[in-house]
Amino acid sequence: MSGGVFRHRPNCLSTEKDIKAFPHAREFHTIFDPTIMSPITNARHVFKEIPQALPVPGKHTAHDTSKTIDLENVALRGGFLVKTIVLSIDPYMRLKLRDPSIKSYSVAYTLGEPLDGHGIAKVLRSENAAYKEGDYIYGIMPHEQYWVGTDPSQFSVVKNDLNLPWSVYVGVMGMPGQTAYVGWREFSHAKKGETVFITTAAGAVGSFVVQLAKVQGLKVIASSGSDDKVAYTRELGADVAFNYKNESTREVLEREGPIDIYWDNVGGEVLDLALEFANVHARFIECGMASSYNEAGETYRLKNLFHFISKQISLNGFIVYDLFGKHSDAFYDEVPRLIKERKLKYQECVTRGLESAPQGLRDVSDGSNTGKVIIAVADE
Ligand SMILES: NC(=O)c1ccc[n+]([C@@H]2O[C@H](COP(=O)([O-])OP(=O)(O)OC[C@H]3O[C@@H](n4cnc5c(N)ncnc54)[C@H](OP(=O)(O)O)[C@@H]3O)[C@@H](O)[C@H]2O)c1
Repeated sequence: MSGGVFRHRPNCLSTEKDIKAFPHAREFHTIFDPTIMSPITNARHVFKEIPQALPVPGKHTAHDTSKTIDLENVALRGGFLVKTIVLSIDPYMRLKLRDPSIKSYSVAYTLGEPLDGHGIAKVLRSENAAYKEGDYIYGIMPHEQYWVGTDPSQFSVVKNDLNLPWSVYVGVMGMPGQTAYVGWREFSHAKKGETVFITTAAGAVGSFVVQLAKVQGLKVIASSGSDDKVAYTRELGADVAFNYKNESTREVLEREGPIDIYWDNVGGEVLDLALEFANVHARFIECGMASSYNEAGETYRLKNLFHFISKQISLNGFIVYDLFGKHSDAFYDEVPRLIKERKLKYQECVTRGLESAPQGLRDVSDGSNTGKVIIAVADE
């Protein structure tokens, strides 16, 4: 029996006013058990409204603090309770803020529910043999401070033998880094002396591709949307770096082309230009179409499609998840070491607290981000 302190628990009274209104309330003091934790706020990043253009923080997705969780007593039912450590904000998430009747390769988010995405979380309690308390797991997880998982096959345990920051596991060593690595290995067929054109070249994927191309001795034309980003792609080794908002992509490609490889992160008009300035037997690696992610209705129609035939261009669209298994051994042999030895450069834009997630999604959607957008949700 412990006296004195009144703890707030569900269905209990917690204020002096409540106690006065309910004369027997003081009896609750006598059953205080210091091992019973109070429920705490469990903040979430939720989908509130379908955007027709750019997502507006607070309107289309928002930080929500209406839920609580009792970390000691929440039922696990054979699952595991985790605390989210870092979350990745990626451009594809904008495509999931849609009406679920619109079919796509990814499942639409549910209105009123948390978004999900790649992250690292720490296991707090487990009733599942796959994990023990203190393990760190990687995979697609809800944008929630704490959550109970039931299916360990959706996650992998991260040992972090190289003692890298957790942010790296959702950035250069996570899905975006894997995308650059597998897309390049599978489809570039790069030869020394060739020319590659890379769009959103300062981003998480693009900046990795620039470095892969330079290692193989290619001439790199790198396009990005701000002078800072241009300076960064130069640092990475790009031979021709330009801001497509100030300089004509057509004029750059006319002057610096023809191109043998096009790494496409934007689609639309730029893809049309790349077709016009492509060499015979060029390889197009179709990774993303950021120029259309915020557009409702009909998107840009390509005019130069016939070049696929006349120039015998190969078109290679891909989703990282399908290809990664084939290249994962090579990736894990090479990439962690390059990061540790600081031979692979990467830039991160880390903000603290789940409350910064709606703005992070906005930034990655309109290009205000410089570097991989990561939310540091909690300390270890
Ligand atoms: N196929 C796959 O499996 C796969 C996997 C991961 C990512 N991706 C795709 O790869 C691309 C790059 O992803 P990331 O994670 O590295 O993101 P990121 O490049 O770090 O961020 C997105 C960038 O897109 C650019 N952008 C935004 N709106 C644009 C618009 N209207 N027109 C042109 N560019 C716009 C901005 O760069 P600028 O300021 O330079 O314009 C922005 O910084 C995205 O298209 C993404 O969907 C594909």
